[in-house]
Amino acid sequence: MKKLYRNARLQDTAECQDILVEDDKFAAIAPHLEAADAVVIDLGGKLTVPPYVDPHIHLDYVYTARQEGATNQTGTLFEGIQRWSETKADATTEEIKQRARKAVREEVTAGVQYIRTHADVTDPSQTSLTALLELREELKDIVTIQIVAFPQEGMYAYKGGDELVEEGLRMGADCVGAIPHFELAREFGEKSVHKAVELALKYDKLIDLHCDETDDDQSRFLELLTALTYQAGIGELTTASHTCSFGSANNAYAFRLMKTLVRAKLNFISCPTENIYLEGRQDSYPKRRGLTRVKELHDAGINVCFAQDSISDPWYPLGNGNLMNVLDAGIHIAQMMSFDEIDHALDLITINGARTMHILDQYGIEAGKPANFIVLDADSPFEAIRQRAGVIRSVRGGKELFTKIPAKVQSGFSLLA
Ligand code: FE2
Repeated sequence: MKKLYRNARLQDTAECQDILVEDDKFAAIAPHLEAADAVVIDLGGKLTVPPYVDPHIHLDYVYTARQEGATNQTGTLFEGIQRWSETKADATTEEIKQRARKAVREEVTAGVQYIRTHADVTDPSQTSLTALLELREELKDIVTIQIVAFPQEGMYAYKGGDELVEEGLRMGADCVGAIPHFELAREFGEKSVHKAVELALKYDKLIDLHCDETDDDQSRFLELLTALTYQAGIGELTTASHTCSFGSANNAYAFRLMKTLVRAKLNFISCPTENIYLEGRQDSYPKRRGLTRVKELHDAGINVCFAQDSISDPWYPLGNGNLMNVLDAGIHIAQMMSFDEIDHALDLITINGARTMHILDQYGIEAGKPANFIVLDADSPFEAIRQRAGVIRSVRGGKELFTKIPAKVQSGFSLLA
């Protein structure tokens, strides 16, 4: 089966390109292609980019924000954890899958094709992980899912937490997680970072830590994670999620650490909508923004991407899987709005996320790679960001996942029609 997509506006070429897809792969990309036996689809000069990547979400938590007992009254991270802890016993595998499917549908219909989800493994029955492992297989034709064995309630806050993480890896999780800033003492937090690195090496897994998700400028687990993974030569396989405290650290400390981060080649995930909502809760004024040093990390050549994190769970009431919303918030909060930054902003929810997920071998609009791409209702990267353009087509493995008809204004006034 051949398809020829004509008039695709790619991110880095001013001239529109034709894209030839054969079976499930890109066959050729050039200003003008001919293929007599291909189905021809005209993309009309619309912006065509690799699919959105959501590298950090909790699919086991979605749509639980208003469940009885789950409502977070203070809006803090720590009450969110407490609410989940008190209510999670009610969850079943089927119920989690049902909620997660709905969230995947929201994400995929907004242009996402790659998701890294955390699965809470601090539950001896492994209900979350079982549900998400089944879903990873069930939904693989429409979305690629990576799973983090994530100890939401800590590895050492109670007996056997570290063993549950290890069990999660043996069950088939792709990444090791930890939450050092939630452990009962700094020493236990450090122990959990050591354990995460040890497990990653033992089972040949990626690492993604909830790391320093606090305004406490003394929370410095990022430093240890960076040093350990750098020494082990696995910095590129490692992700530090959140790192909010790095946004509060003093500049002398940040200057020194930044040099190690560059050498280690760590990946960073910032969740702008969640962290501006959750952090700064103990501040009066001035009130901090709660984000890590997104712009400074990016300017230093470090890989940074944005993620949704929550869809209506005890940590964040909103969220709809539309990465364009997340990007819009992120570039405002991080003040990444020079014209050059806006022109390249889509990288924060596309290729940078793919680099974090370590899937670059299968990602991108290049001959020989899987024919996965989305089309935005805009004529250029700048207009896509300015208009918060929607996704009007998503193609995966050469098949149309969906097409959307953009809303059309009807009016008797010629200016408005
Ligand atoms: Fe998270």
